[in-house]
Amino acid sequence: MSKIFILGASALQIPMIRAAKERGLYVYVLDYDSAAAGIPLADEFLCISTIDSRAVLEAARKYKPDYVMTSTSDMPVRTVAWVSEQLGMQCDISYEDALCATDKNHMRRRMKECGVPIPKFYAAYSAEDFIGKSRIFKDRFVAKPADNAASRGVVLADTKRNPSVSYLRKIYNYVHSFSRGGVVMVEEYMEGPEVSVETFTVNGETHIITITDKMVTDLPYFVETGHTEGSRLPEIEQADIRRVALKAVGAINVINGPCHVEIKATAKGAKLVEIAARMGGDHITSDLVPLSTGVDMTACSLAAVIGDPVDLEPKRSQGAAIRFLYMQNAADTSLDSSTRIITSIEGIETASSMPGVTDVQLYSRVGDEAVPLKSSNDRLGHVIAVGADADEAAARADAALEAIRLTYEDKR
Ligand SMILES: Nc1ncnc2c1ncn2[C@@H]1O[C@H](COP(=O)(O)OP(=O)(O)OP(=O)(O)O)[C@@H](O)[C@H]1O
Ligand SMILES: [Mg+2]
Repeated sequence: MSKIFILGASALQIPMIRAAKERGLYVYVLDYDSAAAGIPLADEFLCISTIDSRAVLEAARKYKPDYVMTSTSDMPVRTVAWVSEQLGMQCDISYEDALCATDKNHMRRRMKECGVPIPKFYAAYSAEDFIGKSRIFKDRFVAKPADNAASRGVVLADTKRNPSVSYLRKIYNYVHSFSRGGVVMVEEYMEGPEVSVETFTVNGETHIITITDKMVTDLPYFVETGHTEGSRLPEIEQADIRRVALKAVGAINVINGPCHVEIKATAKGAKLVEIAARMGGDHITSDLVPLSTGVDMTACSLAAVIGDPVDLEPKRSQGAAIRFLYMQNAADTSLDSSTRIITSIEGIETASSMPGVTDVQLYSRVGDEAVPLKSSNDRLGHVIAVGADADEAAARADAALEAIRLTYEDKR
């Protein structure tokens, strides 16, 4: 029986763990969290952090898996590439390229070299450096950690409203606190609708699976609040988006496997927000893509790793949308969090039985804390709906979300 290491055992990895089991593989899951939701589905659990490359390599030498992969998490992409290189296993992306797909500083440099349209950017290595570089932008700019995810620490700085050094220091300290390696990116703010593009590469040839319209919170934060497939942008803009997505995938030299490419459709054309050499999270590849196109990207990713044929053929064409639940009425645009307690949740059954709704999930319960939305982890639940087209799916998901009512009280 062939053996596989799947890096990460959280709920997001469950579809991949299931697919590997169904394919008859002996599945090891690796995670630092011994309570991770996917552990009971695997054959064996190894309590190892997915970003501890050396520990993963040691385990691979001991258990001798035939394949090493991850599903929808960012950082393990690097580990998979490094361990595969060390063991001389098949590499669908090199370590050097994986770095460019996971560290925003390396990514921006690589994309610039390869002529992929990107915003003007700088990397800041200290508070003074940050303040100096931020002055290059006239009125506003985006600050974000070079190496985090889930929009943690991504913020728009408005220096027209507040040009003071103390404001810039506060922004720097906030963003820096989310940066593992200490590097803070300073970027031109790109204006325009945002999409993500799911791609799949087979033997170096990249296919576009679908384009997803993305909804994000009001400024100054950028947390995703919903996704809708297929994109409703004009075809001419979508063609430009596809061109930039293919160029970005080409820039990181993916040989086989999925990419999740985030793009802004600006007045000056499509520009890259970021690229990930993995499947899109946020229920995009696990739910929305299969619902709207019938393509099973989890199965495709596993097939690519183990050398089975990859089936990218669309099987249907309909709309699919997800909307996230979050604490709506406590808009807090300061950098300090104000925590509240959930006192009631109503309307779950009503939402579940509404037309087109395929899934309603809550991540929190009465008595749990809720905070203003600054990162994806602050979201409280979601609804997913399908429709004949994207507009209908979006309207149905919006209506289901509306049906759910939460009340809160201040934390004492
Ligand atoms: N230069 C920019 N101009 C405009 N918006 C930006 C810029 N950089 C980031 N954003 C916004 O912030 C969001 C999060 O940024 P980014 O994708 O770089 O961080 P992340 O933490 O990896 O996010 P996630 O894991 O949620 O995709 C983007 O989806 C986009 O809406
Ligand atoms: Mg992103």
